Amino acid sequence: EPLIITDKDQMRQWSRTMRAQGKTIGFVPTMGYLHEGHLSLIKEAHKHTQLIVVSIYVNPGQFSPSEDLSTYPSDFDADVKKLKAIPGGVDVVFHPHSLYDYGNSGRNGGIGVEREEKEREKAVVSCVEEKGLGHETWVRVERLEKGMCGKSRPVFFRGVATIVTKLFNIVEPDVAVFGKKDYQQWRIIRQMVRDLDFAIKIIGSEIMREDDGLAMSSRNVHLSPEEREKALSINRSLSKAKAKFAAEKGQVNCKELRSWVIQEINEAGGRVDYAEIVDQESLEAVEEIKSPAVFCVAAWFGKVRLIDNMEISV
Ligand code: PAJ
Repeated sequence: EPLIITDKDQMRQWSRTMRAQGKTIGFVPTMGYLHEGHLSLIKEAHKHTQLIVVSIYVNPGQFSPSEDLSTYPSDFDADVKKLKAIPGGVDVVFHPHSLYDYGNSGRNGGIGVEREEKEREKAVVSCVEEKGLGHETWVRVERLEKGMCGKSRPVFFRGVATIVTKLFNIVEPDVAVFGKKDYQQWRIIRQMVRDLDFAIKIIGSEIMREDDGLAMSSRNVHLSPEEREKALSINRSLSKAKAKFAAEKGQVNCKELRSWVIQEINEAGGRVDYAEIVDQESLEAVEEIKSPAVFCVAAWFGKVRLIDNMEISV
């Protein structure tokens, strides 16, 4: 039976008590609606620490007011059932109500004029600022957050880095596990931990897929059967791109490979947001694959935006 904790002070207290007993703590942050991808991170965490904390919190700080915060799926009871069924289980489910409402009324009781100004500036407004809660400190990983998902979702990585910092400060884990499915997110967290001297080891865990190759995602539930079929084009084209690379012994032109994948997905009925081949470490775009690279894709199928990627190495 996992302990369900909703209060952040109680969460920190639990961790400190366990730490005082010499126990090590692994942490898997999630936004819930758990699937095998999430569960695989917990299995990975079990290899590293004695105790496991899983957080379930849909973070308003990483959604802009025009994104899908209000329709993000959730089913807490089903999540807890799934967590109980994992071999080794989990010790704590941290499920806070809000991590941004500090019990004050905020600075301006709503975003009002400030938001208009910000929108004119850069449209960098998250659902936290929209609520006018008075939270004003944000963690930015300046270079890594610029490209790919950061380009189409300007508040996203700022919100992720900030909530992960808050969660790290509340849970105080020894190890935290992130999925390579969100490749840029994993790299950003690793960089942040290095830059800000968090005493936490970050592990990257492999992408879990459905039998037909679709990368598991909580958002898949919003796909119609037709859209789901179209979405298979992402993994299919990435796999073919990788095979092409192997067949041509690395002599591929990234520009051509990218155009080809974009065409495959668009012809299948998706709308590509980006398709980039980047260095695995720096996430800078590459023209030729000479060092370990990763082919990252984001594409829309109806109202659902999916991401996926494939590592490609010489
Ligand atoms: P969420 O989308 O719920 O994902 C939680 C973790 O599960 C992330 O580390 C993600 O990379 C991993 N994950 C999701 N699908 C996966 C798959 N198919 N295979 C392997 N791992 C997978 O990512 C977030 O939540 C949030 O941004 C969060 C880090 C919790 C901050 O709010």
